[in-house]
Amino acid sequence: MTLHPTQNPIHQNNADQVVIGLFADDNNNQHIAHLDDAIQQQINDRFKNKDFTGQSGQQITLYRDNGQQIMLVGLNNNDKLSATALYDTTHKVVAAAAGSRCQSVALYLHDQDFKNIDADQATKLVTLAASHAAYRYEDTKSFKKNNSHELDRIEVATNDATAEAFRLAAGMAKGINATRHLGNYPPNLCTPKYMAQYATDIAHNNDDCDIDILSKKTMKKMGMGALLAVAQGSHNKPRMIVLSYNGADDDRDPIALVGKGITFDTGGISLKPGANMDEMKYDMCGAASVIGAFVAAVELKLPINLKVFVPAVENMPDGKAYRPGDVITSYSGQTIEVLNTDAEGRMILCDTLTYAQEFKPEVIVDLATLTGACVVALGHNAAAVMTKTDGLYEEFKAAGEQTHDRVWELPLWDVYQKQLDTSFADMKNIGGAPAGTITAGCFLSRFTEGQKWAHIDIAGVAWKDKKEGATGRPVAMLTQYLINKSRA
Ligand code: BES
Ligand code: MN
Ligand code: ZN
Repeated sequence: MTLHPTQNPIHQNNADQVVIGLFADDNNNQHIAHLDDAIQQQINDRFKNKDFTGQSGQQITLYRDNGQQIMLVGLNNNDKLSATALYDTTHKVVAAAAGSRCQSVALYLHDQDFKNIDADQATKLVTLAASHAAYRYEDTKSFKKNNSHELDRIEVATNDATAEAFRLAAGMAKGINATRHLGNYPPNLCTPKYMAQYATDIAHNNDDCDIDILSKKTMKKMGMGALLAVAQGSHNKPRMIVLSYNGADDDRDPIALVGKGITFDTGGISLKPGANMDEMKYDMCGAASVIGAFVAAVELKLPINLKVFVPAVENMPDGKAYRPGDVITSYSGQTIEVLNTDAEGRMILCDTLTYAQEFKPEVIVDLATLTGACVVALGHNAAAVMTKTDGLYEEFKAAGEQTHDRVWELPLWDVYQKQLDTSFADMKNIGGAPAGTITAGCFLSRFTEGQKWAHIDIAGVAWKDKKEGATGRPVAMLTQYLINKSRA
């Protein structure tokens, strides 16, 4: 499926289905006036006998003489239309089209003045929702759908002012699809080795990109004890993947993104319960997100220098696995008492955060499906941002609103740090039940002293359920953050 901008008026659009958004309180839509009389008459009749009133989510399909479908979609009263409603309505419409025989759809939902959503944001939301709804996972199905019955073209109405917003959203969508593929791909195939190969292909297929992969042997020599402790229970050897993109002058410090890449999290010796353990294939979604943001940044040729760090590791129970009670020396030299082998994300991230600092980044952001507690705190609507750097949370919040990929802040106050105290090492790897998301952040903060740094827990947003799978969140937010930084 491909995304295209269109500046054609509706009556000149040849898509199989054309979708028009109508308000309940104003049906003076610019497009309708240009349609042929017969279809205008039908529309007026529907309004008159209240078949269609423009209420939120209402849909009605009319047919032009040439067979083209004209779908009217209710957007409620203009002042009641929220970004969420516009996103959800678009998603619903395109999901239905993707399940029909339509091959092309043109969306004219948002090319009008909204009271609560600005034109750029509306263009992005519609583009992102459409791409999301059209995504199909087919990588491990032997029966691929017959393409002739599938939606393969989506047009999004733009004008000179919103064309750039469309371009940005289409770039994000490309990154999001990469993230969703990696997230959904099963853990027997999506191994550390596969992730390294995937990243290598990205670097080799694009200009200004570079790849470096640290082997287990190299990491051992370097002393990445915390990462290797998690890795030692698995026959799939770990990798440290470092993707670089040089879109700005060499003397500009890079932005560093770090993503948790646990390709499967059994919990290790602190074994997880069996129910829904399959969902721990998504425990590499932090890695998938930073790779997706990288893909988007490269696609958009952003004028930034970007470095993406992915520790790719599998957490398994085994005769060689690390155990509760072990004391491990991290790459930073700080020692960690392992009290739960299921708190493995922070173990691989702490060594990666230490390593990332060697490249003198302007800012470091890590993303991780780090704690179940985050799902309890914020549910599936917002990722949690933790930072001690002034202004950084506000940058993510703004980027999240621009793309409807929202985040919310949790405090990283020092009062939580003492929950990590232990008699047997510099710290333990769990902080107990209270504020589990924050104490995980506190743990990471001990490895980013003096840095501009933020930690984003994406446990609640990275995947939805077994049916929908990986969401590609928060790639849109993250890419928008990079776009905003490239302009600053
Ligand atoms: N990957 C999990 C976190 C997770 C669990 C995310 C369920 C989404 C859904 C992480 O490695 C983990 O197991 N965390 C533990 C930490 C605890 C042992 C301190 C958790 O959240 O239970
Ligand atoms: Mn775990
Ligand atoms: Zn995990």
